[in-house]
Amino acid sequence: MKGIHIVATGRAVPSKKMSNDELSKIVDTSDEWIVARTGIKSRYISENEKNYELAAEAGRRAMEKGGICPEQIGAVIVATVSPDYIFPTIACMVQKELGIPTDIMAFDISAACTGFLYGLKISKGLLENMEKPYLLVIGSEQITRILDFTDRSTCVLFGDGAGAAIVELSDTHLYYQRVWASGDDQVLTCLGPGNAEAFLQMDGNAVYRFAVKAAKEGIDTVLQDAGLTVDDVDYILCHQANARIIDYVKKKYTVSEDKFFINLDEYANTSAASIPIALDEMWERGMIKDGTKIVCVAFGAGFTWSSVLLTF
Ligand code: ACO
Repeated sequence: MKGIHIVATGRAVPSKKMSNDELSKIVDTSDEWIVARTGIKSRYISENEKNYELAAEAGRRAMEKGGICPEQIGAVIVATVSPDYIFPTIACMVQKELGIPTDIMAFDISAACTGFLYGLKISKGLLENMEKPYLLVIGSEQITRILDFTDRSTCVLFGDGAGAAIVELSDTHLYYQRVWASGDDQVLTCLGPGNAEAFLQMDGNAVYRFAVKAAKEGIDTVLQDAGLTVDDVDYILCHQANARIIDYVKKKYTVSEDKFFINLDEYANTSAASIPIALDEMWERGMIKDGTKIVCVAFGAGFTWSSVLLTF
C-alpha cells in the first residue's frame, strides 16, 4: 500500500526575535525562570508580517528546494489556530501568493499543535484522488496574536513561525501514522470570535500530564505498527512545546540524547509550525538524508495528538 513521502521542506519566521530578557521588560518573569522551566531562550514575534505571508514564504522555499512548480501542486492545506481572517483562509491566500493555478483545493485545518501532522494524514487521502503529483502542507502560526501578555504563565511559552512540506505518494518509503482526538474545553482553550477575552488559557500542569502520556503513547504505537523499535529509527521529533516534556519522554527510552531533536530554545512553541520548522532545520543541518527514519509526535489542544513514522 502506498504511503507518503516528504520531498522538501521550508520555513519562515518574523524578522523580530525576542529574548527572555526583552520579554521580562513587558511581563513579570525572568530568563532564569523561563530557561529552567521550559528550555526556551527566545521566540520570534510578528510585527508587520501577516500569517499568510509567513505561510507563503515557507511554502515558496519548500517548492524551491524540491524544484516543484506551481502547476504540480494539487492542493494546499494550512494548519493554524491563529489565522489572519476567519475567512478567507490562509491556504487560499497562499494559493494566490505562490501563483498556484486555481483548479485545486485550498483550505485551513484547526487541530492546534497537532495540525501539521493531521495535515499529513489528510494529504495521503487527497493525493490518492488527485491528478497532480504534489500537495503543499503548511503549519503556520502567529500564536502571539492570541496571547495575553499580562499572563506570565502562558505568554512566555510561545512564538510565531511557519513550516512547509511538499508531499507525494510513495510505495518505496516506509510510512505509518496514527491520529487521536479527545474533547476537552477546560485545560487548554481560546474563546472564539465575539468574545472580548479571546486569549489562550491553559492549566499548565494538566497539559504537561496529557502531553507526556500522549507523546509516549504516540511513539510506542507507531513503532509497534511498523514492527520497529526506537533503535531502528534515526530521530524522534517531539512537538517543540517544552524541554521538560521532551526530557521526560527521553528518559523512558535507553537511547542517545542526540536522537531527540530540540530547537525550542530558539523558537519557543510555534504550535502547528513546530514540527515542519524542526524538519526543515534538521534537513539544513545535514541530519536528513535518503533513507533517514524519523518518528514525529505532536500533541495539543482539542485534545488532539498524532504520531508518524516518516522515511526520507
Ligand atoms: N515567570 C516567573 N514566574 C512564573 C512564570 C513566569 N513566566 N509563570 C508562572 N510563574 C510562577 C507562578 O506564579 C508560581 O508562583 P507561586 O508559586 O508563587 O504561585 C510558580 O511560578 C510556579 O507555577 P507553576 O504553574 O506551578 O509552574 P510549573 O513548574 O508547573 O511550570 C509550566 C509551568 C512551565 C507551564 C509547566 O506547567 C509546563 O511545562 N506545562 C506544560 C505546558 C505547555 O508546554 N504548554 C504548551 C502549550 S500546549 C501544547 O503545545 C501541547
